Amino acid sequence: MAVRAAVAQGVVGQDTPVVGLLDVTGIRRSAAALRSAFASVVPSGTPVLHTFAVKATPLVPVLRLLYEDGIGAEVASPGELALARAAGVRPAQTVLDSPAKTSAELREALAVGIAVNIDNPQELDRIDALVGSAPTTSPIGVRVNPQVGAGTIGALSTAAATSKFGVALRDPGAREWLVRAFLARPWLTRLHVHSGSQGMSLPQLAEGVGAVHELAEAINAEAGRPQIDTVDIGGGLPVDFHSDEELPTHAEYARLLKETVPALFDGRYGLVTEFGRSLLAKHGTVLARVEYAKSSGARSIAVTHAGVQVAARTVYAPEAWPLRISAYDASGRPRTGPEVEQDIAGPACFAGDLLAARRSLPLLEQGDWVAALDTGAYFFAHHYTYNSLARPGVHGFVAGTEGVRFATVRAPQRLEDIVAESGGAHTRALTDE
Ligand code: LLP
Repeated sequence: MAVRAAVAQGVVGQDTPVVGLLDVTGIRRSAAALRSAFASVVPSGTPVLHTFAVKATPLVPVLRLLYEDGIGAEVASPGELALARAAGVRPAQTVLDSPAKTSAELREALAVGIAVNIDNPQELDRIDALVGSAPTTSPIGVRVNPQVGAGTIGALSTAAATSKFGVALRDPGAREWLVRAFLARPWLTRLHVHSGSQGMSLPQLAEGVGAVHELAEAINAEAGRPQIDTVDIGGGLPVDFHSDEELPTHAEYARLLKETVPALFDGRYGLVTEFGRSLLAKHGTVLARVEYAKSSGARSIAVTHAGVQVAARTVYAPEAWPLRISAYDASGRPRTGPEVEQDIAGPACFAGDLLAARRSLPLLEQGDWVAALDTGAYFFAHHYTYNSLARPGVHGFVAGTEGVRFATVRAPQRLEDIVAESGGAHTRALTDE
């Protein structure tokens, strides 16, 4: 681990009590594994576009790294599109999702050829008007909710019976509507499904893809030609938060898909993927200093600088994101010694701001460091502004023969940024006559 080097090189220190670290080599390994997983289940020459769900880790250098490794961008807001553009991702490798696209967003996407997945019939009306008024090279598809179940985390489920995303396939009349919509519009050439996220099992994910593939076959049969030429299978691969292993693997998932939906892999369909968590989660670490080590009643508490501002997911849903914690001494060496049950608390002013509860670790001391593992996805993305805690910086690292090299990915938020983002330009807005 790069903790020792981070301390020695001053990436963390007195004025920098918390940072995010990203393992560049690990990210590249995952990107390569994703590409080869799908390359080995499709006939050669099948178009496969892998995109990264920007929402998971919205950091421009990360998008650039992935893009150079052959992975485009799935974007779901004008902000995410701006990040993808800043990273140099081309429109042909960009996919626009989101349930709330404005007319302006759609017009812009169609003008430059970004693929669009339509969420609902009213959005299709908007697209009809836009396609009618200006030709586009954008591949256009419709997102379908296969309603295969909520998985284990309701708030993150996109494929429950009543999810807000896409056209609910099993609702009365929906399938007929979809077939009619496609037959009337030869330019609709894609179907999109994303069942997620984290709480879904692989068979459930595969069932969702299967349902959409079955619909594609039905539409193509009715059309009498291969109108649907591409299926976008989304992301949703869960991550194991209990071990070092990258499980389940993209290869396992690709093999299961091929087993359960073989005809999707016979070369007639191009594929798009939109993985987020499974590409990045394992390669991020939050490193934070123990500011104080105290006890309260029978409880030992290490008060650190990592709380809700960097680990909102864990703080609010600890069962779903049970972060593994490692302990280091002040110089970044692994802490050893008898293990004691401790709470690892964050800096925010509410009692639930805990990175880990009743965790057995060598007793932490003031000035030690704790590392929260598996935080590469949906952690640096969720910045909570409560208590005006600064958003920490993020650094990428590569371990080579000459030691560990760090590069700044995102600078920490400065106090003047916090003031500006908290109305600092409008100090007298409520008091001026
Ligand atoms: N494609 C679409 C259309 C999505 O909505 C998502 C995630 C993905 C792809 C990527 O899914 P993944 O491979 O990362 O599971 N904020 C939550 C996660 C919500 C993800 C929603 N959509 C969290 O903190 O975990």
